[in-house]
Amino acid sequence: MTTRTKLIAGNWKMNGLKADLAEISGMCARLATLKNSPVETLICPPALLVAEAAGLASLSKLQIGGQDCHMQVKGAHTGDVSAAMLKDAGASHVILGHSERRADHGETDAMVCAKAKAAKAAGLTAIICVGETQNERAQGREYAVVGAQLAGSLSQASQAGDTIIAYEPVWAIGTGLTPSLEDVAQMHNFIRNELARAMGEESQGVRILYGGSVKPGNAESLMSVANVDGALVGGASLKCDDFMAIVEALKL
Ligand code: PGA
Repeated sequence: MTTRTKLIAGNWKMNGLKADLAEISGMCARLATLKNSPVETLICPPALLVAEAAGLASLSKLQIGGQDCHMQVKGAHTGDVSAAMLKDAGASHVILGHSERRADHGETDAMVCAKAKAAKAAGLTAIICVGETQNERAQGREYAVVGAQLAGSLSQASQAGDTIIAYEPVWAIGTGLTPSLEDVAQMHNFIRNELARAMGEESQGVRILYGGSVKPGNAESLMSVANVDGALVGGASLKCDDFMAIVEALKL
């Protein structure tokens, strides 16, 4: 059986000024005191803070990532950030296709797929987000929606070393609501099977994160579900104490 190291990833979204880098320094210091932690950690701050955050975290166990990248290597794309720029700034990962980007910027699965290819070419690990809306779940379409997002967003070139999936039911993001553990188990099992169909044996190494209102109080139970290989955490990743409480909940 493949063992997958759990990943606790924080998504700061459009939150954080330079002063908030103190939270990153705090996380690095706290992680240094955790001996033999079985968990990998990552914070994805706003693009403007990536370089400084990566500098602060360079000698620590905390990895730094971006929240999006352009699908092209470079060129006339005002305001955009390329995968190579993130890598150059010290990022190791990039979140792609978050539901907020799909909604705010009309990102399609094909665009996410192109971005995943760009991320891989730049040496970044892509965290590809999928998840159904409340309406889609009410209509019983959650598996069809997530299956289509996966099929459309994964590229032929996607491999375990450069691809992580985050299942984030849109209705659970920022709402304090979470699916039942049974629902999480079923969806993660479904995603694991879809990955196997798409990637074969290679898929065993792909981690599937759960995201949507993960907090210190529910992290341990959510992370104990089969095929939940970590968390993508929004609000509770902004403060060192909250983020570390989630990491420490998995200390075992
Ligand atoms: P939340 O956000 O933890 O604040 O619900 C999760 C996410 O959108 O990645």
